Amino acid sequence: MTTSAKLREIVPSDAFDPRRIRRDFPIFENNPGIVFLDTAASAQKPASVIDGIAEFYRRDYANVHRGVYRLSARSTELYEEAREKVRSFLNAEDSSEIVFVRGATEAINLVANTWGSAFLKAGDEVVLTELEHHSNIVPWQMLRERNGIKLVVVPIEATGGLDMVALERLIGPRTKLVAVTHLANATGALLPVEKIVKLAHEEGAKVLIDGCQAAPRMALDVRALDADFYAFSGHKTYGPSGIGVLYGKRALLDAMPPWQGGGDMILTVNFDETTYQETPHKFEAGTPDISGAIGLGMAIDYIEAIGRNRIQDHEEKLTGYGVDVISAMEGVRLIPAGQRRLGVLSFDVENVHPHDLATILDQHQVAVRAGHHCAQPLMDKLDLAATARASFGIYNDESDVDALAAAIKAAQEMFAR
Ligand code: ALA
Repeated sequence: MTTSAKLREIVPSDAFDPRRIRRDFPIFENNPGIVFLDTAASAQKPASVIDGIAEFYRRDYANVHRGVYRLSARSTELYEEAREKVRSFLNAEDSSEIVFVRGATEAINLVANTWGSAFLKAGDEVVLTELEHHSNIVPWQMLRERNGIKLVVVPIEATGGLDMVALERLIGPRTKLVAVTHLANATGALLPVEKIVKLAHEEGAKVLIDGCQAAPRMALDVRALDADFYAFSGHKTYGPSGIGVLYGKRALLDAMPPWQGGGDMILTVNFDETTYQETPHKFEAGTPDISGAIGLGMAIDYIEAIGRNRIQDHEEKLTGYGVDVISAMEGVRLIPAGQRRLGVLSFDVENVHPHDLATILDQHQVAVRAGHHCAQPLMDKLDLAATARASFGIYNDESDVDALAAAIKAAQEMFAR
């Protein structure tokens, strides 16, 4: 039996129950009582992924795309099977449109360094939003230094949502790319990416979507969305760290020059000239993160066994409950996230610095992130140096929100003394 066939037998298929799901994640057994509310930073891993990776190393490991011996062929088959799982996860047309990278950060850097370097010239505009993570800002600033492109930033409204009127005004004939988050990591604002893609395409611009926070929380369909590029990270999607995905439409990937040079991305090499493999291999120089890709495939198996519509439904309900509880607390300000919020609550507690708050919450076994969440321009806009952030995963339930609220109260009492 192959590793993946075995895994399919051990993933849950019964009713959605976070308490039951929690039992699939060894971290909870090894940290009794922990209230883990930092899935937006990195999700915990189910045993099927942890054990599956160990089993892969024990039974099937060898380098991929290189050996003619059976073990290498098996390893290659599992690696390419993982690519196919990602294709299906995104509903991409073809698995050649799935490039394995280190994470969403690398995916965006890859696009900036290849597509951006090859096709954007001085004066061309890349449209970003105030909600972006640094990883969807800095690569474009670096490209600006090299190519002289212009960055145009769409503001948010006071309600925390994206100003769609401004977006429509700012996308114009000079816009070559709209690079936008699907779900803002710092606030949980869910963006109307369908509409954004449509507006961008009407002006002939391409769209790159940073799907880091959306991938673990909702069903995705890059074809229905008509996204040109879509990026996400394995570690936020219940898979290992160090692996991620760049989806690109085949014609775009075909037209892009390779990025890093080395083994596996070439067809022929001599000292005068090198020819390259086809996509996706031309973007995967060197021995890839084989077990990472296979582990991501296992995480996708796990997610699919639960069902992404059920996961989204759960995240929506829990987020709604969290909004009700946190916004009813005196002295706590929930950072607004527009009309639709999913999985993330960012908040500010009067007279308690977010870092102090996170430290006190930790004493109550509640793990949240405090800081600027790699979104400093957004913090500047909100006139805050930092916030505390609670984010949900499939293993959280209402009792975690209650524990968070009780711990915030304890911190408030401590600072009121
Ligand atoms: N991007 C991750 C976060 O939002 C690390 O916490």
